[in-house]
Amino acid sequence: MDKFRRRLAPGDTLFEQGEHGDCAYIVESGVIEIVCDDASGKAAKVLARLGSQDIFGEMALFGERTRSAGARAAGDAVLTVVTHDYLTERLQASDPMLRHLLRTLTKRLRGMNNGAATTAAGSGAKAADGEVGPAKDDEDRNLALSRVRAEQDLTVALEQEQFRLYFQPIHRLSDGSIAGYEALIRWLHPERGLVPPVQFIPLAEESDLIVRMGHWITDRACAALSEFEALRKEKNLRIPPLFMSLNLSGRQFQDPDLLPTLDRTLARYPVDPQQIKLEVTESLMLRAFDESVRLLKDCRSRGVKVSLDDFGTGYSSLSYLHRLPVNTLKLDRSFVLALDVDDSGRKILAAIVRLAHDLGMDVITEGIETLQQSAVLRELGSDMAQGYYFGKPVPQATAMETLQNHP
Ligand code: C2E
Ligand code: CMP
Ligand code: CA
Ligand code: CA
Repeated sequence: MDKFRRRLAPGDTLFEQGEHGDCAYIVESGVIEIVCDDASGKAAKVLARLGSQDIFGEMALFGERTRSAGARAAGDAVLTVVTHDYLTERLQASDPMLRHLLRTLTKRLRGMNNGAATTAAGSGAKAADGEVGPAKDDEDRNLALSRVRAEQDLTVALEQEQFRLYFQPIHRLSDGSIAGYEALIRWLHPERGLVPPVQFIPLAEESDLIVRMGHWITDRACAALSEFEALRKEKNLRIPPLFMSLNLSGRQFQDPDLLPTLDRTLARYPVDPQQIKLEVTESLMLRAFDESVRLLKDCRSRGVKVSLDDFGTGYSSLSYLHRLPVNTLKLDRSFVLALDVDDSGRKILAAIVRLAHDLGMDVITEGIETLQQSAVLRELGSDMAQGYYFGKPVPQATAMETLQNHP
């Protein structure tokens, strides 16, 4: 038999209680008895009789690495071996809260087998062990608990309106005029001050919080756009209608309620769907290709635009570009930084701009910080640009002041 199979004859002992253990087993055929020393130390008590497809021997893989009970064959038996490495890999890929729960349950079950009171989580015996031992347990517990608390903080923040939407202008390179804004979220934390999105968006993305947050963002962004537009008209600014770009993350993208919610929001404000651009990243599009195509079609039927964000940070596979009918390609800041290195950066940028135009997309370049970069990008044909040179993300009132003075 190979190393992943064990065959036992009737009465064979697979392992004894207290032995070191580093694999689990699945019963292919036969019956395995799980036995445990009686509290008096006399007769062995049969805890369970396991049959085909039952898994056992898993408890030694959490924490103490010793067998909580013995195992013996009640007849001929064939077992599949599940290695420690295999299970560790699966566990490491799972949520720390689930790992923590598993270890807690294992400890409690051990306590019950011993006839002892259930042990409290985290007070288990120390064993010299690497990956899944007590040190890892502490780490998972801390991670799990801090995550629970952080998610609770975010929920409270949403309820108490601690989030703020900032707006960064996007300018046309042809004449420098303002074309629209990207809405960027901030958390005005009562103690920590202004928290940037990288510190809370990834966490929000792990739960449905991002979807609720997204509804709030959409509402605030449409409200702001209608006020920007009112000002544009009132001041008779000689620029076309402004657009508002909204960032979408994976969960929002897969939320069937995304566009219906957007419809309802648009109906509340004097905003044309054509003025809304949804920013999605290429990794997100490729991860959920069918959903992407469906969403793009639904957007199109409403007139809502789609931008491919952060182009150049992922695989930037050119082969699928023509299959995604996006309106705008947003070139990542790394392209701008590469301009300073050598001439090839410039050539690559020029080629991508040309390709985007050939596919009917317009191009926004991100991260323009200097006049010189803006001049080069204009020369290379980028239609629009966004970056500190034109303006940092600012609160609505500040953006309104700047817009008011638009030449
Ligand atoms: P992003 O969508 O790529 O947004 C552009 C980021 O680049 C913003 O960072 C912006 O402040 C920054 N930036 C703009 N111009 C320049 C520049 O000239 N130089 C440099 N160095 N940086 C510049 P921010 O606001 O911290 O946002 C970071 C990321 O967080 C965003 O990247 C986006 O992925 C995510 N995010 C922000 N707001 C939202 C939101 O409302 N919803 C979702 N789902 N994600 C958001
Ligand atoms: P492990 O501790 O690695 O080795 C003994 C195995 O017996 C254990 O993993 C579980 O798979 C199983 N086991 C332990 N206690 C019980 C119980 N009370 N009931 C059924 N199975 C048990
Ligand atoms: Ca973006
Ligand atoms: Ca971007």
